Amino acid sequence: MAEISRGPELMEKIVSLCKRRGFIFPGSEIYGGLANSWDYGPLGVELKNNIKQMWWKMFVTRRPDMVGVDAALIMNPKVWEATGHVATFSDPMVECKACHARLRVDNLEGVVLDSSAEGGWNLSAAKCSICGKKEFGIPKQFNMMLRTWLGPVQDDSAVVYMRPETAQAMFVNFKNVLESTRRRLPFGIAQSGKAFRNEITPGNFIFRQREFELMELEYFIRPENWEASFEHWLGQMKLWLKTLGIADERLHYVEISDEDRAFYSKRTVDVEYDYPFGQKELYGLAYRTDYDLGKHEAFSGQELKYSNPDDQKEKFVPHVIEPAFGVDRSVLVSLLEAYHEEITDDELRVSLRFPYWMAPIKVAVLPLSKKEELSVPARELAQTLRDADIVVEYDETQSIGKRYRRQDEIGTPFCVTFDFDSLTDGMVTVRDRDSMEQARVPIAGIVAEIKNRLQK
Ligand code: GAP
Repeated sequence: MAEISRGPELMEKIVSLCKRRGFIFPGSEIYGGLANSWDYGPLGVELKNNIKQMWWKMFVTRRPDMVGVDAALIMNPKVWEATGHVATFSDPMVECKACHARLRVDNLEGVVLDSSAEGGWNLSAAKCSICGKKEFGIPKQFNMMLRTWLGPVQDDSAVVYMRPETAQAMFVNFKNVLESTRRRLPFGIAQSGKAFRNEITPGNFIFRQREFELMELEYFIRPENWEASFEHWLGQMKLWLKTLGIADERLHYVEISDEDRAFYSKRTVDVEYDYPFGQKELYGLAYRTDYDLGKHEAFSGQELKYSNPDDQKEKFVPHVIEPAFGVDRSVLVSLLEAYHEEITDDELRVSLRFPYWMAPIKVAVLPLSKKEELSVPARELAQTLRDADIVVEYDETQSIGKRYRRQDEIGTPFCVTFDFDSLTDGMVTVRDRDSMEQARVPIAGIVAEIKNRLQK
């Protein structure tokens, strides 16, 4: 196996492969695109769905203490007033006076946080990351929530926000879930779905977008148990990263300092990954205390306390541990980890070595020739596999070698080749993506054979 460089060229290879093979396309491309928006294509949607479904299994349905919700994306704007998002969900922004680019101040080279400077930042040594000039306006806070109007009247009374996180739906529905499911502490509520942030500087492919997907859970606990629960969820996040197949050496668990932590969090650990563009956040784990439920209780006037069913005198606002996972960042790191190159028969072989459960296509059915004699039974075989809920691609164009390479490049674990001998011996060749080993197996047992191999 060739050692591949993990620098910016890896990112270029991934972006190009994603476009060429139908994983991820630039958004609205025929109209010249829309800056930093991306559309998942036929393979990308399968990959993303597999990741979301595995997450849901691991964090919701395989656990006795979790339930899910799927809430409206646009919530009552009071939700975001209560949480402080309207007042403080902002990034510091500055305009370059030379090229008029609007930049995130904290990302500029040479900038220093300085409360005595105008706008809170000393920019005397800073350089514009676009034009290199050193003339800036005064830094301002820029609220990242996307706004729109609900209904036909576009005035201030109709302003609503596209949710910047999925978390708040779990807090707002805490009472409904508690009453409808009669849960006892500790228990959690999970949700996955779209979130929107008007990022000042989106970029790095799907790493930072203005529209993205989150998988989050809020785990409600007694305050005295927070340390043990925090460790439990950190362990579960590590297990998830193993399930995704992420190499330990590219992961970092960063304890966020008191100064850098969100004001409502008593402890935050960021999971960071060595991307081709540097070490940056992948996921986050926070102890949000009783901040959110407390705020919603105060703003809504509704009681959001938990009453101990065994002791009527005990009534309190539960505390919360929150593991938060970006779906798109999960897709990106999975692609980066899966990418392999090697030289086989003097040719470059690219393969995406996804864990089998994650691969968008599980089996390719390839007749050795396009002739009806082979293509008709091969199509039937493909349908038999589909009927058994195995995702199949049928391909009869070009040489078998080229077809194998195409499947390797999209990460298909197994190719099933139907040849002229298959007509008489009732056997097909199953080829393994990673070892390239081939074995003859009976057509009659193909579903069991593939299901068995996919288990590994
Ligand atoms: N409820 C907590 C929360 O929203 P966050 O760290 O702001 O925390 C959670 O976001 C996760 O969402 C991040 O760890 C990252 O995986 C993902 N994420 C955040 N902003 C993103 C963006 N602009 N584009 C893509 N993913 C993003």
